[in-house]
Amino acid sequence: MPTIGGIRLEHPVVMAPMAGVTDLPFRLIARELGAALVYSELVSAKGICYGNRKTLKLLETDPAERPVGLQIFGGEAAVMVEAARHVAERRPDLLDINMGCPVPKITRNDEGCALMLDPKRAGRMVRAVVEAVDLPVTAKIRKGWDENHVTAPEVARELERAGVAAIAIHGRTREQFYSGRADWGIIRLVKQAVDVPVIGNGDVFTPQDAARMLEETGCDAVMIGRACLGDPWIFRRVVHYLNTGELLPPPSSRDKLTMAVRHLRMAVQFKGEYTAVREMRRPIAWYLKGVPRANRLKQLVQRLDKAELVAEALMEHLDSLGAQADEPVRLQPPTDMQEEAA
Ligand SMILES: Cc1cc2nc3c(=O)[nH]c(=O)nc-3n(C[C@H](O)[C@H](O)[C@H](O)COP(=O)(O)O)c2cc1C
Repeated sequence: MPTIGGIRLEHPVVMAPMAGVTDLPFRLIARELGAALVYSELVSAKGICYGNRKTLKLLETDPAERPVGLQIFGGEAAVMVEAARHVAERRPDLLDINMGCPVPKITRNDEGCALMLDPKRAGRMVRAVVEAVDLPVTAKIRKGWDENHVTAPEVARELERAGVAAIAIHGRTREQFYSGRADWGIIRLVKQAVDVPVIGNGDVFTPQDAARMLEETGCDAVMIGRACLGDPWIFRRVVHYLNTGELLPPPSSRDKLTMAVRHLRMAVQFKGEYTAVREMRRPIAWYLKGVPRANRLKQLVQRLDKAELVAEALMEHLDSLGAQADEPVRLQPPTDMQEEAA
């Protein structure tokens, strides 16, 4: 099993960092359903240094979710070092550096995926962070900036020299955002370029995809992003398949509706009702994918502003399904994240 900076993962299936998704409640759910490692969303190093209250909230962790990585992004070594020291005081299991974010607001400041354009600068920045904290430091990179700048193997080598404990690689360029297919060939090249563990990422939607990525690329673990939206059971299905070759059924409507309610309640506890009800509209819509006759419910949830009313609507729908509630849902292709992720 992969070991990252002394942390032995239970199995090679981890959850990807996702802004607006992998908050503390969802990370707890993913761990419970089998992800071997979870990450926070990207957190601004500048925001941490300014002591921004909302930013610092993103760094809260819970013992039950460990092992957990906190991911930060930034472009200046001094700012990243200060932010990393702050993160280290919170004792997550690892500190991850974002080098993949494609969003212009971030790349314009030479942060996120812009670091892929300058492997030496990326290496210097990461070395400064590694030397500043006594935590394993990892990085998440992309294939490169565009097809003319496929820098992942070179960046990976610089990062390894700088002392990272593992590298996650998403097989798309910045130019691709989330479109087209992830290039698993580049994951193999990164794996061949370095000795530290490599976590492959991009387009793992089924247990068979995960097995194929491990096999074809030789990567040490697979990282799942979009496929767990509304379907955190994917981790359990993938792990079971890797261990036994058997496919477990997808969740039932009952599983999905009760999880939506539980997730909502956890969110209310963590962020208060006002924020939780609004922020949970998107995840609830994801949970409702595949649940029969849920169109009206989806629309209703977008309007309700009291957690208990939302929970009631979800439970009423569950009752209305009768015996159908216990049938496995039909899995649908994942949401097109192009707009959402930007
Ligand atoms: C909604 C959303 C938010 C994301 N936020 C982050 C982030 O904060 N940090 C990061 O490194 N990657 C982020 N990503 C990229 C994912 O971690 C992952 O690399 C990408 O979705 C490809 O994996 P997948 O095909 O399994 O979804 C995000 C992706 C999505 C869809």
